[in-house]
Amino acid sequence: MGPRVARSVGLCAVSLVYAPLYGATLLQNPLARHALSLNGDWHFIVDSRDTGVGRQYYRNLNPFSSPGVVEYNFQTAPLLHVPGDWNSQRPELLLYEGAVWYERAFNYRLPDGHRAFFHVGAANYRARVWMNGEALCDHEGGFTPFDCEATKLLKNGANFVVIVVDNKRHADDIPALNFDWWNYGGLTRDVTLIDLPEAFVEDYSLQLERGAANRITGWVKVNGASAPQSVAVGIPDLRVFETAMTDAKGLAQVAFEAPALERWTPERPRLYRVQIGSGSDHVDDQIGFRTIEARGTQILLNGRPIFLRGISLHEESPFLSGRAHGDDDARTLFGWAKDLGCNFVRLAHYPHDEHALRMADRLGLLAWSEIPLWQEIDFGNKAVMEKARQQLEAMIARDRNRAASIFWSLTNESRATPERNAAIHELAAAARSLDGTRLLTAATNQIKRPDAHTMVLDDPIIADLDVFGVNEYIGWYQGIPSDLDSMAWRNTFNKPMIVSEFGGDARQGFHGAREQRWTEEYQDEIYVHQIAAIRKLPFAQGLSPWILKDFRSPVRQLPGIQDGFNRKGLISDLAERKQAFYTLRQFYQELASKEETGRAQ
Ligand code: GCU
Repeated sequence: MGPRVARSVGLCAVSLVYAPLYGATLLQNPLARHALSLNGDWHFIVDSRDTGVGRQYYRNLNPFSSPGVVEYNFQTAPLLHVPGDWNSQRPELLLYEGAVWYERAFNYRLPDGHRAFFHVGAANYRARVWMNGEALCDHEGGFTPFDCEATKLLKNGANFVVIVVDNKRHADDIPALNFDWWNYGGLTRDVTLIDLPEAFVEDYSLQLERGAANRITGWVKVNGASAPQSVAVGIPDLRVFETAMTDAKGLAQVAFEAPALERWTPERPRLYRVQIGSGSDHVDDQIGFRTIEARGTQILLNGRPIFLRGISLHEESPFLSGRAHGDDDARTLFGWAKDLGCNFVRLAHYPHDEHALRMADRLGLLAWSEIPLWQEIDFGNKAVMEKARQQLEAMIARDRNRAASIFWSLTNESRATPERNAAIHELAAAARSLDGTRLLTAATNQIKRPDAHTMVLDDPIIADLDVFGVNEYIGWYQGIPSDLDSMAWRNTFNKPMIVSEFGGDARQGFHGAREQRWTEEYQDEIYVHQIAAIRKLPFAQGLSPWILKDFRSPVRQLPGIQDGFNRKGLISDLAERKQAFYTLRQFYQELASKEETGRAQ
């Protein structure tokens, strides 16, 4: 589902209605398309009173030559780098929540008969786009891409684009008013202008069929063809070259054997160059093929049980405490996860950058992706659930060809109210209809405690999931670490469980007794007892402790310890490792060597 074309303006005091300019389209693999990058420095104006539409910022007027009073001037305004959040680029914007207007000029020439799509990898939280002063499209959701056809608004030669991004929070947004991460606003991912022929490959999906030896099935969607069109799928290394015809909707089904195929695994993350073409358009992708399934309390990768040695991450840059983006940030963060001995990353609490999922493909890290239905969400509100469905659809549409991506997670720590249970039930059905090849999950903290030594895992939404995640903070928010030693865990569903969060805060370099909270020693004590408990659970098929790296949060204000950061990281915001990093790594290295031995037998 792409952006809604600008109709009513949720971003400012003035409500303007725009007739739909173009249909909504979401382009598969935008980074591989022929495009003009609009990354770089953009002029910006802070609009804390939402007057920019009324003052017509989108027209990019010159105050010295325009009739009437023009009280802004993008050409002399300061600069923000795109991609990037505004909070970490300007100290005066660290806490800013509101509208910021971006503008940049660019020269362009669209070949005759071609079409141009304006692509934004993410804009947090709402965005509206004008091209050469004309409304183009709007989008809501801070972590999913959108593409807007701009063909008719572009000129050959000089052009300018204006985007207003607004990160104000609302009770009917996703996430809603309160969440434990920094509300980084802005154009936080790539912005490009994609050049496509009249008829082009819009989308495609290629998956390895569960249960079959090496049979790949999928489809290719062609946009703009006036009659059925031939499509071709080639995988040179497998000597595969398949053709098919599109139907009246532009959809062509493909299915073929690939006997020589090497399955993608974390140890050998084999990616194949896949060439997809139709008419004059072709797009290359790098795709890994594997199967993932749940059977009883096991998770099977390519038909073999796998234990997920994971860690949770926020999308926070490794060194600058801003929104992470691009290959370099992903390579560094996932490099730290690999150092830890991970084969799995929980990408919390929202869809991460496409660069990250592609990096996970390349480095051999299985990935959990989630939409930000975090804690208090207005589940009973149909409009809110429509937004959730759109974000879910965009996440699945973008990452459906990533071998690393094995989980779609539907919510984190939401309360088990009837509205929430019903909403998750519906979202689960929507997710399965969009992609039946991955596992559905969620992270629940709805754990019953009939006594101090028992945890009952019976959240009703588990019935809708393939695997369930449990966030439990025994030893930090509840009790002390040694309480885990005698804990009984009741899995009332015969399904695999992942301990999707545990941990505790520690200021790196703050040392003391192992009973002293906020020290590295206490955090390590939590890990020692958590690991010992997980070892004893036959249905535990993985863990993703909270969290790889300290991250900025407005609700963590303990002076001298937190100072605006959640300190549950195994690595500090200055990239310094804490004791617990080594305890977890030792556990993962032991598991990995056992797994290696198992493979050899
Ligand atoms: C929760 C939540 C996280 C939060 C963490 C914490 O489990 O999922 O988003 O940061 O607890 O309290 O540190």
